[in-house]
Amino acid sequence: MLKDNHQRTINYVRLAVTDRCNLRCTYCMPENMQFLERSSLLSYEEIVRLMQVLTDAGINKIRITGGEPFLRKDLMLLLEQLAPMAGISITTNGVLTAPFIPALKALGIHQINLSLDTLQADRFFRITRRDQFSAVQQTLETLLAHEMDIKINMVVMDGMNTDELIDFTELTRSHAVSVRFIEEMPFNGQGNRFSGINWNYLRILDTIRSQYTLEKITDAPNSTSMNYRIPEHKGSIGVIPAYSRTFCGTCNRIRITPTGGLKTCLYGDDVLNVKSLFREGSTDIELLEHLQAALQHRAKDGFEAAASNTHAQLESMSVIGG
Ligand code: GTP
Ligand code: 5AD
Ligand code: SF4
Repeated sequence: MLKDNHQRTINYVRLAVTDRCNLRCTYCMPENMQFLERSSLLSYEEIVRLMQVLTDAGINKIRITGGEPFLRKDLMLLLEQLAPMAGISITTNGVLTAPFIPALKALGIHQINLSLDTLQADRFFRITRRDQFSAVQQTLETLLAHEMDIKINMVVMDGMNTDELIDFTELTRSHAVSVRFIEEMPFNGQGNRFSGINWNYLRILDTIRSQYTLEKITDAPNSTSMNYRIPEHKGSIGVIPAYSRTFCGTCNRIRITPTGGLKTCLYGDDVLNVKSLFREGSTDIELLEHLQAALQHRAKDGFEAAASNTHAQLESMSVIGG
């Protein structure tokens, strides 16, 4: 079992398979985002080897992220190899996802987190700078038709989509989805200094509570979201205090960036490069020793620790993997 210096068990890895994206969400990256050279990415062979070492050491959940994971060539071939190792879930923007849903289901992959910040086509274009709303709608419909385990991630942006909190909550009336409202975080890849948020999770909850009865659900021990049921609704809602970070004390996750960097916190720098270790000829045992050593230097709350680290705030979420 992997443990860090605060006795937190690490059993969850977030694997960013690419930094590329077919959207340009304003809170994530600039229009002219410079992507990594493909040759600098971890190869599938390297990813599979790394995930085998991690799952042998006690990791039991792999979340595939990006950028947009379905832009990585032959993603299904990678998923076929990873599916027997651990529970697999995917975070996707839904532009290319719909046709893959039956194959995902056949591999036993049911947990899909769909990023969707608005239910209005013109606004979708303003937020993502791309005209792909109908493709994402199609993905949502296909996910529902296949009865997948769906979480919708809505990043709450002051002056942009806060008037849609109720419309998103309404989605849970007749659909068995979990809609999660996320506090905006300072990773916009543009180096804009971030001056805090006007909509924290408490304000979001108050707004929803003004129109609905919220009944608290007991959250999973390492959940990032606080979740609520609404009487008569098939789905549920949640808030993710991503900026307030109320969940760091139970953090069970590490991250692998597209180039093989290990991050022990969303807000931290890479603390190890797995690709370099592989290319220097490290054995699996040596790799595991490096990973275990890196876990002994984790901050209890990484943002506080990185407060002076402006580098972390210049990064795009697409390189970190969310
Ligand atoms: P599941 O619990 O497996 O559904 O995963 P998740 O909710 O953590 O994953 P998802 O990819 O859907 O991310 C939802 C939001 O939570 C994104 O905005 C993430 O960046 C944010 N988030 C995930 N992990 C962390 C974390 O360790 N710290 C902070 N501050 N935010 C996080
Ligand atoms: N703040 C909060 N959430 C973000 N995401 C991407 N960038 C940000 C940000 N700056 C979300 C995406 C996706 C998840 C992995 O991270 O919407 O659902
Ligand atoms: Fe792409 Fe996700 Fe970033 Fe939007 S938030 S640009 S969908 S990686």
